[in-house]
Amino acid sequence: MPVTSPYLQGAFAPVTDQITAFDLPVTGSIPAGLSGRYLRNGPNPLGLEDPGYHWFIGAGMVHGVRLRDGRAEWYRNRWVRSRRTAETLGETWPGGPVHADQDFAANTHVIRHAGRTLATVEAGALPYELTTELGTVGPCDFGGSLPGGFAAHTKLDPRTGQLHAIAYFWAWDYVQHVVIGGDGLVARTTSIPLPHKPMMHDFALTEKYVVLFDLPVTFSMAAAADGSPLPYTWNTDVQARVGLLPRDAGSADVRWTSVEPCWVFHTFNAYDDAEGRVVVDLIKYQGAYDVSLLDGKGPLTLDRWTIDPAAGTMTSRRLDDRLQEFPRVDERTISRPHRYGYSAVIGEVSRATISLSGDFADQAFGNALLKHDLERGATQAREFGRDATAGEAVFVPATPDAAEDDGYVMAFVHNPDRGAADLMILAAQDFGGDPVARVHLPARVPLGFHGSWIPDE
Ligand SMILES: [Fe+2]
Repeated sequence: MPVTSPYLQGAFAPVTDQITAFDLPVTGSIPAGLSGRYLRNGPNPLGLEDPGYHWFIGAGMVHGVRLRDGRAEWYRNRWVRSRRTAETLGETWPGGPVHADQDFAANTHVIRHAGRTLATVEAGALPYELTTELGTVGPCDFGGSLPGGFAAHTKLDPRTGQLHAIAYFWAWDYVQHVVIGGDGLVARTTSIPLPHKPMMHDFALTEKYVVLFDLPVTFSMAAAADGSPLPYTWNTDVQARVGLLPRDAGSADVRWTSVEPCWVFHTFNAYDDAEGRVVVDLIKYQGAYDVSLLDGKGPLTLDRWTIDPAAGTMTSRRLDDRLQEFPRVDERTISRPHRYGYSAVIGEVSRATISLSGDFADQAFGNALLKHDLERGATQAREFGRDATAGEAVFVPATPDAAEDDGYVMAFVHNPDRGAADLMILAAQDFGGDPVARVHLPARVPLGFHGSWIPDE
């Protein structure tokens, strides 16, 4: 039997069809106030023959469920049409701008900003704009205002309506902080020189600072020459550090603080405390991490970093030691203090991203969503059964001005009895209770990356 990439199997296995289904069956009842679309992006390669397939490089496919008036009106899944994806599907590429030959079917996140639904990806490529029904409009350079590539993760400042991102690219000796205004145009960019070319998958935002993670996972020309599809490797020559870029200053004003060697894919959120320090909650992979192989020993923990820019120090506190990923908060708290966080325990992801010699706890192999009350220091686990793989959980407020945590937590959860996914809708304040609703999709949704609830405008 040929060797096959683990990311082509089991819960990761791509689907082969694009489906459109209407009036989906529901168990429970969808709150009438939920009017919008839950969208989630993830890699879904078109070919299954590459034994060296890396999870991060499959063509993006967006899965969406449209809710309105207590009904699940439709489910759709669509590949993002980059030139290559379109041609493989026998279609004409819609065309548009391309940065530095980095055309790619954006596979990492899907967001909405300034009237555009965007599938996003990092490392040099542009986002792709999608229609309401997940068709591809084309690549987006924000009306020609973006100078380079974009990023997978963004932070929307709820006060200013500005969207922040950190772009990086192997051919750049800097990373670029990009601010996109509520008008959908780039308002400003700040380039921060980093000649060792770190991968910067996520970042954090406070009211005063942009929090940068300059960690020792850097572009490797040797790995690229060896044909690595994602040539970012552990680099023992660089110091791990966290940087605070004042929002209203230039790159010369970044304050760097050294930290222990580690890797961070994702943050929950960050804020400024009353003492002028920056508090950031994140999921940390301790020690060396090789992104080209998705391999580190861990452990992987939920930690709170408190950075004192005046003293140049960082203190770390462990908040939870369960293996978890895909941290999210109520997006209305971005850059300000949050009390709650939501994340996912996904055995398949832990197995796939931490080497088996690492520190595995039994619950690593479970499937659960977690709700953290970070003020009380309490965590609630919502367990799903064997093979009921849960994806990233997104918080949706019950109403636009509802209190934090007053709302719903949504995620795709595999239903092994049906061999297909459910859109699970939990009441955040009854996290362990019966789901408010389970929308039964007609197909599997492979384990993927990130998504958003996009309320009707
Ligand atoms: Fe991510």
